[in-house]
Amino acid sequence: MTTTTNPAATAAEQALAAKGGKPVRTAPWPARNLFTAAERDAAVALFDKVIASGSVIGYNGEEEEAYLREFCDFMGGGFADGVNSGSSAVYVALRALDLEPFTEVIVPPVSDPGGVMPVALLNMIPVPADVAPGTYNSGPAQIEARITPRTSAILVAHIAGLPADMEAIMAIGKRHKLPVIEDCAQSHGASLKGKLVGSFGDIAAFSTMSGKHHASGPQGGIVYTRREDLVFPIRRASDRGKPFGLPPGSQNSIASLNLNSNDLAATIGRVQLRKLPGIVAARQKTADALARACESLKAVRLNTGIPGANGAHWFLLLKLDLPKFRVDKAAIAAALQAEGIPVGGGYWHSPATSEWAVKKRVFGTSGYPWNSPLYKGDPNATWELPNAKAADDTHITLAFHERVGEQEVADTVAALAKVEKAYLK
Ligand SMILES: Cc1ncc(COP(=O)(O)O)c(C=O)c1O
Repeated sequence: MTTTTNPAATAAEQALAAKGGKPVRTAPWPARNLFTAAERDAAVALFDKVIASGSVIGYNGEEEEAYLREFCDFMGGGFADGVNSGSSAVYVALRALDLEPFTEVIVPPVSDPGGVMPVALLNMIPVPADVAPGTYNSGPAQIEARITPRTSAILVAHIAGLPADMEAIMAIGKRHKLPVIEDCAQSHGASLKGKLVGSFGDIAAFSTMSGKHHASGPQGGIVYTRREDLVFPIRRASDRGKPFGLPPGSQNSIASLNLNSNDLAATIGRVQLRKLPGIVAARQKTADALARACESLKAVRLNTGIPGANGAHWFLLLKLDLPKFRVDKAAIAAALQAEGIPVGGGYWHSPATSEWAVKKRVFGTSGYPWNSPLYKGDPNATWELPNAKAADDTHITLAFHERVGEQEVADTVAALAKVEKAYLK
């Protein structure tokens, strides 16, 4: 960090909470209150029902069927299967497509590890494509640049709830005859040009753990598709290969795990689904207000995604025009934190640099799938991700949910203005 001799800047710097000044905000961000008496009552009612009947709470029952039907209503059609996590949903989506081992799956360059590890666990090679410039999502040109004769699928995540460029990505998938999987863990209800994410690709994976827009309890997930031919393969992949949709007398047809959801989770999920449109709308309203308010600033903008995007905003991405500042990103983030604004330094979870992938720790010490003689690519390939790196070098994250509102927008902008005043050149 450089210092300045400008007295006004020095006074502004001294006013920062990080330098002993009064913070903009001392109250924590509002509580989310995701679960209420409504979820509790639904769960108790299910217990009351089974206690009265002497039966058990099971899975694939009425509640789960209703939850999945209602989820499809939310998505405007299609088919859904309930699973026990978002990671499981990605695993099931890949397994249902029956991709060959030792092929390459193009994966997001930045994503939760649970959105990428299933690729390697199914003995396929994760190949990160770079992001479209200025975004955190794989770009169409960047995906196409990674396609080889060994590529078997394209996996795209909508990071922070901002949609990837799905129309162009689907065109690439079509041109190369590759299925496209959408990871919607962070993007329930996000849309691109009016079309919901998850409804573009061949198959989509949702996480419904309790940090997501809607939850089916503490952990959960949904596999979603519009392709009727994938309905039974998905169900087989999520339940030990049970012969769903196969002729009577068929046996378990593939090896897979028991990744099922259950009727208790679905009961909670049904209540949550009724809240989901309001949750997404509230997030969009507040994010829009923050985006507008940031226009009064000189060097900070809210990243609202590509043209046509209506994000679901799982967390917010604030873009810093760093050349205008005389301090680095870490100093800006630290100053904002001291002002009481819950920002983070960025969102770098990359399969290109994660230990499990770099050290090839998937199947003991074998180095498989990369080191298998059946893999015909370069097992030691490394992946340059200049756009993703540039994006993460210039963004900070802001904690967000649907109860973050006007006051938090005002405080965030006040804190940003204060930091600009102290730290702009
Ligand atoms: C993009 C993405 N994919 C997959 C996952 C994994 O979901 P889960 O934690 O439900 O397994 C997450 C979790 O946050 C995620 O953000």
